[in-house]
Amino acid sequence: MSTKILVVDDKQMMRDSVGATLQRAGYTVVVASNGKDAVAKLARHQPAVVVTDLKMPEMTGLELLQHLNEADSDLPVVLMTAYGTVGDAVEAMKHGAFDFVQKPFEGDQLVVVVKRAVEHRALRKENAALKVDRADRVVGPALVGSSGPMRSLATQIRQVALSSGTVLIQGESGTGKEVVARTIHAHSQRRDKVMLCLNCAALSSSLLESELFGHERGAFTGADQLRKGRFELADGGTLLLDEISEVSPQLQAKLLRVLQEGQFERVGSSTSMKVDVRVVATTNRDLTRSVADGSFRQDLYYRLNVLPIAIPPLRSRSADVPLLAEHFISMTAQREGREAKRFDEEALSLLKEYHWPGNVRELQNICERASVLCRGPVIEGGLIQPWLMPRGNATPLVHQSAAPPSMNTLAGSPPLQPPMASASPDMGGPLRSLEEIEREEVIRALGRFSGNRTRTAQALGIGVRTLGLKLKKWKEQNLVAQSV
Ligand SMILES: Nc1ncnc2c1ncn2[C@@H]1O[C@H](COP(=O)(O)OP(=O)(O)OP(=O)(O)O)[C@@H](O)[C@H]1O
Ligand SMILES: [Mg+2]
Repeated sequence: MSTKILVVDDKQMMRDSVGATLQRAGYTVVVASNGKDAVAKLARHQPAVVVTDLKMPEMTGLELLQHLNEADSDLPVVLMTAYGTVGDAVEAMKHGAFDFVQKPFEGDQLVVVVKRAVEHRALRKENAALKVDRADRVVGPALVGSSGPMRSLATQIRQVALSSGTVLIQGESGTGKEVVARTIHAHSQRRDKVMLCLNCAALSSSLLESELFGHERGAFTGADQLRKGRFELADGGTLLLDEISEVSPQLQAKLLRVLQEGQFERVGSSTSMKVDVRVVATTNRDLTRSVADGSFRQDLYYRLNVLPIAIPPLRSRSADVPLLAEHFISMTAQREGREAKRFDEEALSLLKEYHWPGNVRELQNICERASVLCRGPVIEGGLIQPWLMPRGNATPLVHQSAAPPSMNTLAGSPPLQPPMASASPDMGGPLRSLEEIEREEVIRALGRFSGNRTRTAQALGIGVRTLGLKLKKWKEQNLVAQSV
């Protein structure tokens, strides 16, 4: 029995022609006319690959993708997209689609993609992914870089890992503070114990308190069960406190006590608990300034700064750029089961000369985006150039366009029009989406309050957590600078 492919499309003509092409290439084809039908046929036929239309009534290809992912996360899904909807396809790839072909396509083109998907499936079966995962857990995350600053950082990490002292990692956003923290834990004597993380900027002060220290049943409205906090749960291990500068003064006092005495009480309890937790804190602000302006306790700063580690921004270690780029490209290739692409000379020199306001995270995003959008084996300078922000951009906090420009201009297709512009009878220029307006207001407010999220959230009338979540989402989509 030859390899089975499930073809999903609401249009019979398309099902027939795709089915015939794949049959000619030696595959057994099962067809489904909608998402529901596809899900039902999946269990019965267990295809090696699914080829589906992206836009279908009732259940879209993206929704089907989610169902398929839940049923079998290793099943490669190839999307057939209409001309001009490449943006959707890229979105789908972020959600785990294997690849896409743009209509109208040649039969051969589809067969090549399906063949790769079948091979990918076979590879997955050998459990390659699992092996990588296990290796990562044993040796810690990859900390790539061979520049002078990275070599001395590696030495520092080794020394710091030997002790149990509190570590304060400072560095701009996206420089790798969390990777360094994880590396420290993975090389410490606590490596077999848990490492927990908490982002102090994402929660309001009272929520943060109960996350850190836990609460008794009935401690406050809604506390209907006892809950252990991170300090308790991380006993014996490491606790990473991200964005420590955002902790409120009241909580700073409590943190100081737990760092000094290893003691704390759950919210609503008077019984002290003692734990052995190694704290690693990170900040992308200069904490000495926060101490100077009175927003951060000096005694807490000294308690945290026992073992300081400063991660230099990527622009001051451009020798690491090619290595990091290669690392991210090969990670993406490995994850997607394809051949790794490579940058041409022009692209590499653009990357090396760029000032990297979003540091390593920005480089990672660019590499992943280029891997997805570049159709051939070589990534050319012209593809990545539009994604690089000019130095000294007048509005450094926000990227100029809502989406990376070449997502819309891929492969010579005409730029997609903003949907509002064509739908509106108002001829006074394209309208901006509400989200875009919201984003700009948030960035403006952050600027006014020098990046202080608590005050920004107050001024905007939203919770700090909501603000944190919004910023996280926009950063992930590269819509605001990583340094926000
Ligand atoms: N030296 C490195 N080697 C490999 N990957 C790295 C390195 N530095 C950073 N990264 C990757 O870059 C991304 C950003 O790193 P990380 O989250 O540690 O930064 P951060 O400083 O904690 O950022 P933020 O301040 O926004 O929280 C991650 O995906 C991480 O894996
Ligand atoms: Mg971080």
